[in-house]
Amino acid sequence: MHSVVKLADAKRSPKWTDSQTESGSDRRFSQHASDLVLRQVAKAYRIDGKRLPVLEDINLTVEPGQFVTIVGASGCGKSTLLRLISGLERDFDGEILVSGRNVTGPSLNRGLIFQDHRLFPWLNVEDNVALAFESRRIDPADKRRIIQEHLKLVGLTGFEKAFPYQLSGGMAQRAAIARALVNEPEILLLDEPLGAVDALTRLYLQNELQRIWTQKGVTMIMVTHDIDEALFLGDRVVVLQSRPGRVRRIIDVDLPHPRDREDRQIARLKKEILADLAGEH
Ligand SMILES: Nc1ncnc2c1ncn2[C@@H]1O[C@H](COP(=O)(O)OP(=O)(O)OP(=O)(O)O)[C@@H](O)[C@H]1O
Ligand SMILES: [Mg+2]
Repeated sequence: MHSVVKLADAKRSPKWTDSQTESGSDRRFSQHASDLVLRQVAKAYRIDGKRLPVLEDINLTVEPGQFVTIVGASGCGKSTLLRLISGLERDFDGEILVSGRNVTGPSLNRGLIFQDHRLFPWLNVEDNVALAFESRRIDPADKRRIIQEHLKLVGLTGFEKAFPYQLSGGMAQRAAIARALVNEPEILLLDEPLGAVDALTRLYLQNELQRIWTQKGVTMIMVTHDIDEALFLGDRVVVLQSRPGRVRRIIDVDLPHPRDREDRQIARLKKEILADLAGEH
């Protein structure tokens, strides 16, 4: 079983599995966001005929509009967990509910952003973003307007006709974020979206992500290996342990956004998470 550690300053119930989080998340609840519940989720793969348990005992409740970050060692199952929530991977035990309904496959309601931008090199920015509409019938004028709005949101106005090779890594990632947002998903799943950019761009994009999150009110679940990033952005930080991946603990970060990166509480929580993960390598 996972261990549940209750922080001295966390006001919520230590029984986080069905948690009505009191701290860190009562800031605002969006009209346009979904809640997410994971109950006893477990996943195993088969490699060379052998069963490999990857995730076990995953219980998590995410409230609408919350920003949840997930940290854990390489291979502990973070990407697998996001794939399960996205509906791309359907073979698992337990329950995953979005707004009370079982996830049975991918949906436009759940956007997924990967570490690499996955833009098509032969399409310009505008057309890459337009691809997200592929499975939706939409008036061309509305389509252009929505694309423009979202390129503005991510700061790419003026780069509509640029091809991916003409963008910086950070700009390409922002185009990918715009593409994930045009269908107004209620949950955005981000798998190390800033892993490939340099340190300064990363700080900048963290602020941008926070701004977009505030503006859109979307529920965000973001995997990162950067503990500072997890604590800067997350209302809650889920710390996973490895083999199989389990929840070691969930931390409520009871600080308003935007946060001071030098905040003492953040420094203290970072130490604790590092200690949690120290035994993983
Ligand atoms: N399609 C697959 N078939 C078999 N095993 C898989 C498959 N996908 C992932 N795994 C295994 O599941 C485990 C977790 O992989 P996952 O990609 O979820 O880890 P991760 O936490 O995202 O790691 P990283 O931080 O390196 O991205 C690994 O042991 C991996 O070998
Ligand atoms: Mg991964």
